Amino acid sequence: MDAHNGQKIYAHIVGWGMAVPDSVLTNAHLEAIVETSDEWIRTRTGIRERRIASERDSTTSLGLKAAQRALDVADMQPTEIDLIIVATSTPENIFPSTASLIQHSLGAVKAGAFDLSAACSGFVYGVDMAAQSIKSGSIQSALVIGTETMTRILDWQDRGTCILFGDGAGAVVLRASTVEGGILSAVLRSDGSGSDMLGLPTVGSVDLRNAYSAVNGARPTTGLTAPELSPSLAGQMRLYKMHMNGGEVFKFATRVINESVHQALEKAGLTINDVSLIVPHQANQRIIQAAARALKVDTDLFMSNLDRYGNTSAASIPIALCEAIEQGRVSEGQNVVFVGFGGGLTWASMVVKWTGARPPEPGATTLINQQRRQISYLFARWQMRLRRFSRRWMGLFTRFLPRRGKNGE
Ligand code: UT7
Repeated sequence: MDAHNGQKIYAHIVGWGMAVPDSVLTNAHLEAIVETSDEWIRTRTGIRERRIASERDSTTSLGLKAAQRALDVADMQPTEIDLIIVATSTPENIFPSTASLIQHSLGAVKAGAFDLSAACSGFVYGVDMAAQSIKSGSIQSALVIGTETMTRILDWQDRGTCILFGDGAGAVVLRASTVEGGILSAVLRSDGSGSDMLGLPTVGSVDLRNAYSAVNGARPTTGLTAPELSPSLAGQMRLYKMHMNGGEVFKFATRVINESVHQALEKAGLTINDVSLIVPHQANQRIIQAAARALKVDTDLFMSNLDRYGNTSAASIPIALCEAIEQGRVSEGQNVVFVGFGGGLTWASMVVKWTGARPPEPGATTLINQQRRQISYLFARWQMRLRRFSRRWMGLFTRFLPRRGKNGE
């Protein structure tokens, strides 16, 4: 709650939206892929089914849909957004960022955009970064998106991981206000000593450099560390595949939920008795039950929808938040806690006082605003094509221009 021009500025959640692929992958489907059973998955995790991205879906397209829905609820134009943060572990590119792709597709021409890598804690990290920027007065509004296509990075031969994850996206719009409330506190933590517990190696990975060389050709070396060029096929296959030590992550998760929820509440000057709802990262129903025991609260205080979506990593908290709002579990003046944990290791808790956030009443103005947003999306699509086309023609055209000498003669 920093001061700005003599007034305290608060960051409120004023819009929310989610998007999941249409295709459902049930536990019965998984029985045909790995040696598992519906009964094992349900009793050990609570998951019954998850969504799986089709050929047409991508991390960007799911994130874009969730963002558009969040803008609808906030009834804001994309041009009013100052910052877009995308929390994801499954970006389509290392760069350009998924955030930049979504920024363009929305027509959010005044927004900065970047991706944030904090695995399943990423959404809470992102909301805190955005809230701090708003409270400092540096920006007025932000879009924070958690979007994942986890099923594209799973090892479908590893029954310990492939049964857990699903695809989807969730987004929130944050906006500056002088009304007290909104994001009250956050605790962000990391312990890189646990980096081997949960990970997804990519192009820069030292361990996988040989596999990379085999796929892309040998990297020039000084001769001191000549790369070997005969990696096993298994090595190649593991590039971009997720690995996890489930048991260790389970223990870590139950410990940090309890610890960090208390820390975030203390920072906000509240206790667990002041909390109306906890929206945790949706990893395993047994983790939620253990966390409820540790916090000495009823399991019903926790929002849980992992039975239908599995673990959607950075998207799980905003998806669960959207469904909690839809079910009427969040109302004006209530304190809601978000808690995420995952690869890094990272974890994060946040206390939000839900204030003044409700979808706009349907009416003529809302309809006009909705149409303005649609025009912005349509214009952005054509603008990209036009810009690429004109760059290509300008490139061809300049090739035929006489070249200038060194001194510009
Ligand atoms: O978002 C990131 C955060 N990730 C998490 O929070 C995941 C946390 N971990 C977990 O949710 C759990 O540890 C798992 C669901 C991954 C595993 O459950 P578990 O109760 O810890 O099982 P386990 O790994 O101790 O394995 C118990 C047995 C093993 O068999 P043996 O060695 O006792 O004969 C496994 O091989 O269950 C076996 N097993 C399976 N059996 C049927 C492991 N996966 C499966 C499976 N189907 N899918």
